[in-house]
Amino acid sequence: MATAATARLILFVALVTGSSGSAWAAQKKEDVAAAPAIHALRPMVGSGGDLGVSCDSWRLAVEANNKRNWKTVPASCEDYVGHYMLGKQYRRDSAAVVDEAVAYAEGLELAGNGTEVWVFDIDETSLSSLPYYAKHGFGTKLYNATSFNEYVLEGSALVLPETQRLFRKLISLGIKPVFLTGRTEDKRAITVANLCHQGYSGWMELLLKPVGFKGTAIAYKSGERLKLQDAGYIIVGNMGDQWSDILGVPEGGRTFKLPDPLYYIG
Ligand SMILES: *[C@@H]1O[C@H](CO)[C@@H](O)[C@H](O)[C@H]1NC(C)=O
Ligand SMILES: *[C@@H]1O[C@H](CO)[C@@H](O)[C@H](O)[C@H]1NC(C)=O
Ligand SMILES: [Mg+2]
Repeated sequence: MATAATARLILFVALVTGSSGSAWAAQKKEDVAAAPAIHALRPMVGSGGDLGVSCDSWRLAVEANNKRNWKTVPASCEDYVGHYMLGKQYRRDSAAVVDEAVAYAEGLELAGNGTEVWVFDIDETSLSSLPYYAKHGFGTKLYNATSFNEYVLEGSALVLPETQRLFRKLISLGIKPVFLTGRTEDKRAITVANLCHQGYSGWMELLLKPVGFKGTAIAYKSGERLKLQDAGYIIVGNMGDQWSDILGVPEGGRTFKLPDPLYYIG
Protein backbone atom coordinates (compact mmCIF):
# COMPACT_ATOMS: atom_id res chain seq x y z
CA MET A 1 0.00 0.00 0.00
CA ALA A 2 2.84 2.37 0.90
CA THR A 3 4.49 1.47 -2.39
CA ALA A 4 1.34 2.09 -4.38
CA ALA A 5 0.83 5.47 -2.73
CA THR A 6 4.43 6.43 -3.40
CA ALA A 7 4.05 5.40 -7.03
CA ARG A 8 0.95 7.60 -7.28
CA LEU A 9 2.93 10.52 -5.85
CA ILE A 10 5.77 10.00 -8.32
CA LEU A 11 3.27 9.83 -11.18
CA PHE A 12 1.70 13.05 -9.89
CA VAL A 13 5.07 14.78 -9.85
CA ALA A 14 5.87 13.53 -13.34
CA LEU A 15 2.56 14.92 -14.62
CA VAL A 16 3.02 18.24 -12.87
CA THR A 17 6.62 18.79 -13.87
CA GLY A 18 5.92 17.51 -17.38
CA SER A 19 3.11 19.99 -17.96
CA SER A 20 5.00 23.10 -16.94
CA GLY A 21 8.42 24.23 -15.90
CA SER A 22 6.97 26.88 -13.64
CA ALA A 23 7.93 27.84 -10.12
CA TRP A 24 4.66 26.28 -9.06
CA ALA A 25 5.86 22.92 -10.33
CA ALA A 26 9.16 23.36 -8.53
CA GLN A 27 7.25 24.09 -5.32
CA LYS A 28 5.15 20.97 -5.86
CA LYS A 29 8.31 18.97 -6.27
CA GLU A 30 9.55 20.24 -2.91
CA ASP A 31 6.22 19.38 -1.24
CA VAL A 32 6.37 15.91 -2.64
CA ALA A 33 9.95 15.47 -1.48
CA ALA A 34 8.64 16.02 2.05
CA ALA A 35 5.64 13.76 1.48
CA PRO A 36 7.16 10.35 2.19
CA ALA A 37 7.98 11.40 5.77
CA ILE A 38 4.41 12.62 6.27
CA HIS A 39 3.09 9.48 4.70
CA ALA A 40 5.06 7.38 7.17
CA LEU A 41 3.10 9.02 9.97
CA ARG A 42 -0.24 7.99 8.53
CA PRO A 43 -1.76 5.70 11.15
CA MET A 44 -3.43 3.24 8.80
CA VAL A 45 -1.40 0.48 10.37
CA GLY A 46 -2.68 -2.98 9.68
CA SER A 47 -5.85 -1.81 7.98
CA GLY A 48 -7.18 -2.63 4.55
CA GLY A 49 -5.74 0.47 2.90
CA ASP A 50 -7.71 3.64 2.19
CA LEU A 51 -11.04 1.94 2.87
CA GLY A 52 -9.95 0.32 6.12
CA VAL A 53 -10.63 1.54 9.63
CA SER A 54 -8.22 4.17 10.85
CA CYS A 55 -6.95 2.89 14.16
CA ASP A 56 -6.09 6.43 15.21
CA SER A 57 -9.72 7.49 14.59
CA TRP A 58 -10.94 4.43 16.43
CA ARG A 59 -8.77 5.25 19.44
CA LEU A 60 -9.86 8.89 19.47
CA ALA A 61 -13.53 7.82 19.36
CA VAL A 62 -12.87 5.45 22.26
CA GLU A 63 -11.05 8.02 24.38
CA ALA A 64 -13.70 10.67 23.75
CA ASN A 65 -16.47 8.23 24.80
CA ASN A 66 -18.06 8.50 21.36
CA LYS A 67 -17.56 4.80 20.83
CA ARG A 68 -19.20 2.81 23.63
CA ASN A 69 -20.00 -0.74 24.66
CA TRP A 70 -17.32 -2.20 22.42
CA LYS A 71 -16.26 -5.74 23.20
CA THR A 72 -12.91 -6.00 21.46
CA VAL A 73 -10.29 -3.89 19.74
CA PRO A 74 -10.73 -4.25 15.94
CA ALA A 75 -8.54 -7.15 14.81
CA SER A 76 -6.87 -4.87 12.26
CA CYS A 77 -5.73 -2.59 15.09
CA GLU A 78 -3.87 -5.18 17.17
CA ASP A 79 -0.44 -3.98 16.00
CA TYR A 80 -1.47 -0.35 16.32
CA VAL A 81 -2.63 -0.77 19.93
CA GLY A 82 0.43 -2.87 20.74
CA HIS A 83 2.77 -0.21 19.40
CA TYR A 84 0.82 2.51 21.21
CA MET A 85 0.91 0.71 24.54
CA LEU A 86 4.49 -0.56 24.40
CA GLY A 87 5.97 2.46 22.65
CA LYS A 88 6.41 5.93 24.09
CA GLN A 89 2.99 7.37 23.23
CA TYR A 90 0.97 5.73 26.02
CA ARG A 91 3.42 6.98 28.61
CA ARG A 92 3.47 10.45 27.02
CA ASP A 93 -0.33 10.66 26.93
CA SER A 94 -0.48 9.57 30.57
CA ALA A 95 2.14 12.16 31.52
CA ALA A 96 0.12 14.90 29.81
CA VAL A 97 -2.95 13.96 31.89
CA VAL A 98 -0.96 13.81 35.12
CA ASP A 99 0.76 17.14 34.43
CA GLU A 100 -2.69 18.74 34.27
CA ALA A 101 -3.80 16.96 37.43
CA VAL A 102 -0.69 18.06 39.35
CA ALA A 103 -1.12 21.67 38.22
CA TYR A 104 -4.78 21.56 39.27
CA ALA A 105 -3.97 20.04 42.67
CA GLU A 106 -1.21 22.56 43.32
CA GLY A 107 -3.61 25.38 42.53
CA LEU A 108 -6.30 24.23 44.98
CA GLU A 109 -7.01 26.22 48.09
CA LEU A 110 -7.07 23.46 50.65
CA ALA A 111 -8.92 23.58 53.95
CA GLY A 112 -5.93 21.83 55.46
CA ASN A 113 -7.97 19.81 57.93
CA GLY A 114 -7.66 16.47 56.20
CA THR A 115 -11.06 16.34 54.52
CA GLU A 116 -9.87 16.54 50.93
CA VAL A 117 -9.56 13.26 49.06
CA TRP A 118 -8.69 12.15 45.54
CA VAL A 119 -10.22 9.03 44.03
CA PHE A 120 -8.09 6.68 41.97
CA ASP A 121 -9.22 3.67 40.02
CA ILE A 122 -6.75 0.75 40.07
CA ASP A 123 -6.49 -1.27 36.84
CA GLU A 124 -4.98 0.77 33.98
CA THR A 125 -4.97 3.77 36.31
CA SER A 126 -2.70 2.92 39.25
CA LEU A 127 -1.54 -0.52 38.13
CA SER A 128 -1.02 -1.82 34.61
CA SER A 129 -2.30 -5.14 33.27
CA LEU A 130 -0.31 -4.63 30.10
CA PRO A 131 1.74 -7.83 30.55
CA TYR A 132 -1.54 -9.76 30.47
CA TYR A 133 -2.96 -7.92 27.47
CA ALA A 134 0.31 -8.21 25.56
CA LYS A 135 -0.10 -11.99 25.80
CA HIS A 136 -3.78 -11.87 24.81
CA GLY A 137 -3.89 -9.86 21.60
CA PHE A 138 -3.95 -6.32 23.03
CA GLY A 139 -7.70 -6.37 23.55
CA THR A 140 -8.58 -8.01 20.23
CA LYS A 141 -9.80 -11.14 22.03
CA LEU A 142 -13.01 -11.30 24.04
CA TYR A 143 -12.58 -10.65 27.75
CA ASN A 144 -11.91 -13.91 29.59
CA ALA A 145 -12.81 -13.43 33.28
CA THR A 146 -11.14 -16.70 34.28
CA SER A 147 -7.73 -15.96 32.85
CA PHE A 148 -7.82 -12.28 33.80
CA ASN A 149 -8.69 -13.16 37.41
CA GLU A 150 -5.79 -15.60 37.42
CA TYR A 151 -3.55 -12.73 36.36
CA VAL A 152 -4.92 -10.40 39.08
CA LEU A 153 -4.35 -13.11 41.69
CA GLU A 154 -0.67 -13.29 40.73
CA GLY A 155 -0.37 -9.77 42.16
CA SER A 156 2.17 -8.97 39.48
CA ALA A 157 0.53 -5.95 37.82
CA LEU A 158 3.00 -3.14 37.18
CA VAL A 159 3.03 0.40 38.48
CA LEU A 160 1.86 3.19 36.19
CA PRO A 161 4.63 5.66 37.03
CA GLU A 162 2.83 8.84 35.98
CA THR A 163 -0.12 8.07 38.25
CA GLN A 164 2.24 7.26 41.08
CA ARG A 165 3.87 10.66 40.60
CA LEU A 166 0.46 12.31 41.11
CA PHE A 167 -0.36 10.02 44.04
CA ARG A 168 2.79 11.06 45.89
CA LYS A 169 2.32 14.73 45.05
CA LEU A 170 -1.20 14.64 46.53
CA ILE A 171 0.06 13.12 49.77
CA SER A 172 2.70 15.84 50.01
CA LEU A 173 -0.06 18.43 49.54
CA GLY A 174 -2.24 16.85 52.25
CA ILE A 175 -4.83 15.40 49.85
CA LYS A 176 -5.68 11.81 50.78
CA PRO A 177 -5.77 9.19 48.03
CA VAL A 178 -8.68 6.74 47.99
CA PHE A 179 -8.62 3.69 45.73
CA LEU A 180 -12.01 2.82 44.26
CA THR A 181 -11.92 -0.28 42.10
CA GLY A 182 -14.19 -2.71 40.30
CA ARG A 183 -12.00 -5.48 41.69
CA THR A 184 -14.08 -7.46 44.15
CA GLU A 185 -13.66 -7.64 47.94
CA ASP A 186 -12.20 -11.17 47.78
CA LYS A 187 -9.14 -9.69 46.03
CA ARG A 188 -8.32 -7.26 48.84
CA ALA A 189 -5.22 -9.01 50.16
CA ILE A 190 -3.57 -9.53 46.77
CA THR A 191 -4.50 -5.99 45.70
CA VAL A 192 -2.90 -4.48 48.81
CA ALA A 193 0.19 -6.64 48.30
CA ASN A 194 0.43 -5.66 44.63
CA LEU A 195 0.02 -1.94 45.36
CA CYS A 196 2.64 -2.04 48.14
CA HIS A 197 5.04 -4.06 46.04
CA GLN A 198 4.73 -1.46 43.27
CA GLY A 199 5.58 1.41 45.61
CA TYR A 200 2.18 2.74 46.71
CA SER A 201 1.71 3.61 50.35
CA GLY A 202 -0.27 6.04 52.45
CA TRP A 203 -3.73 5.72 50.90
CA MET A 204 -6.70 6.52 53.11
CA GLU A 205 -9.03 3.79 51.90
CA LEU A 206 -9.21 0.92 49.46
CA LEU A 207 -12.79 0.43 48.32
CA LEU A 208 -13.48 -2.85 46.53
CA LYS A 209 -16.76 -3.96 45.00
CA PRO A 210 -18.89 -6.36 47.06
CA VAL A 211 -18.87 -9.85 45.56
CA GLY A 212 -22.13 -10.33 43.67
CA PHE A 213 -22.86 -6.59 43.21
CA LYS A 214 -25.39 -6.37 40.39
CA GLY A 215 -25.38 -2.73 39.26
CA THR A 216 -23.32 -0.96 36.63
CA ALA A 217 -19.81 0.35 37.21
CA ILE A 218 -21.16 3.90 37.17
CA ALA A 219 -23.80 3.06 39.81
CA TYR A 220 -21.26 1.30 42.01
CA LYS A 221 -18.55 3.94 41.79
CA SER A 222 -20.75 7.04 42.05
CA GLY A 223 -22.51 5.37 45.00
CA GLU A 224 -19.18 4.93 46.79
CA ARG A 225 -18.22 8.52 46.04
CA LEU A 226 -21.54 9.68 47.49
CA LYS A 227 -20.77 7.75 50.69
CA LEU A 228 -17.40 9.50 50.93
CA GLN A 229 -19.09 12.84 50.47
CA ASP A 230 -21.79 12.05 53.02
CA ALA A 231 -19.05 11.12 55.48
CA GLY A 232 -17.74 14.68 55.19
CA TYR A 233 -14.99 14.24 52.63
CA ILE A 234 -14.47 16.60 49.74
CA ILE A 235 -13.56 14.74 46.56
CA VAL A 236 -11.30 17.27 44.89
CA GLY A 237 -10.21 14.97 42.08
CA ASN A 238 -11.09 11.68 40.44
CA MET A 239 -8.91 9.75 38.00
CA GLY A 240 -9.64 6.67 35.95
CA ASP A 241 -9.04 5.00 32.61
CA GLN A 242 -12.75 4.33 31.96
CA TRP A 243 -15.53 6.87 31.54
CA SER A 244 -17.48 4.77 34.05
CA ASP A 245 -14.84 5.79 36.62
CA ILE A 246 -15.59 9.47 36.20
CA LEU A 247 -19.28 9.71 35.21
CA GLY A 248 -22.07 9.78 37.80
CA VAL A 249 -22.82 12.27 40.58
CA PRO A 250 -20.79 13.16 42.53
CA GLU A 251 -17.97 13.02 39.98
CA GLY A 252 -15.48 14.93 42.12
CA GLY A 253 -14.20 18.48 41.78
CA ARG A 254 -12.38 17.59 38.59
CA THR A 255 -12.07 14.39 36.63
CA PHE A 256 -9.09 13.08 34.72
CA LYS A 257 -9.29 10.40 32.04
CA LEU A 258 -6.22 8.31 31.39
CA PRO A 259 -5.79 6.56 28.05
CA ASP A 260 -7.00 2.97 27.66
CA PRO A 261 -7.52 1.49 24.21
CA LEU A 262 -7.45 -2.11 25.55
CA TYR A 263 -10.97 -2.63 26.91
CA TYR A 264 -14.29 -0.97 27.73
CA ILE A 265 -16.18 -1.16 31.03
CA GLY A 266 -19.67 0.35 30.91
C1 LIG B 1 -12.59 21.59 57.18
O1 LIG B 1 -12.50 22.90 56.71
C2 LIG B 1 -13.61 23.31 55.90
C3 LIG B 1 -13.28 24.69 55.33
O2 LIG B 1 -12.85 25.55 56.33
C4 LIG B 1 -14.87 23.29 56.73
O3 LIG B 1 -15.98 23.66 55.94
C5 LIG B 1 -15.07 21.90 57.29
O4 LIG B 1 -16.20 21.87 58.15
C6 LIG B 1 -13.85 21.42 58.05
N1 LIG B 1 -14.04 20.01 58.39
C7 LIG B 1 -13.58 19.50 59.53
C8 LIG B 1 -13.86 18.04 59.74
O5 LIG B 1 -12.93 20.13 60.32
C1 LIG C 1 -10.36 -18.57 29.42
O1 LIG C 1 -9.22 -18.80 30.20
C2 LIG C 1 -9.17 -20.08 30.79
C3 LIG C 1 -7.98 -20.09 31.76
O2 LIG C 1 -6.78 -19.74 31.11
C4 LIG C 1 -9.07 -21.10 29.71
O3 LIG C 1 -9.01 -22.42 30.28
C5 LIG C 1 -10.28 -20.98 28.81
O4 LIG C 1 -10.16 -21.87 27.72
C6 LIG C 1 -10.42 -19.57 28.29
N1 LIG C 1 -11.69 -19.43 27.58
C7 LIG C 1 -11.75 -19.02 26.34
C8 LIG C 1 -13.13 -18.92 25.76
O5 LIG C 1 -10.76 -18.75 25.68
MG1 LIG D 1 -9.48 0.87 35.34
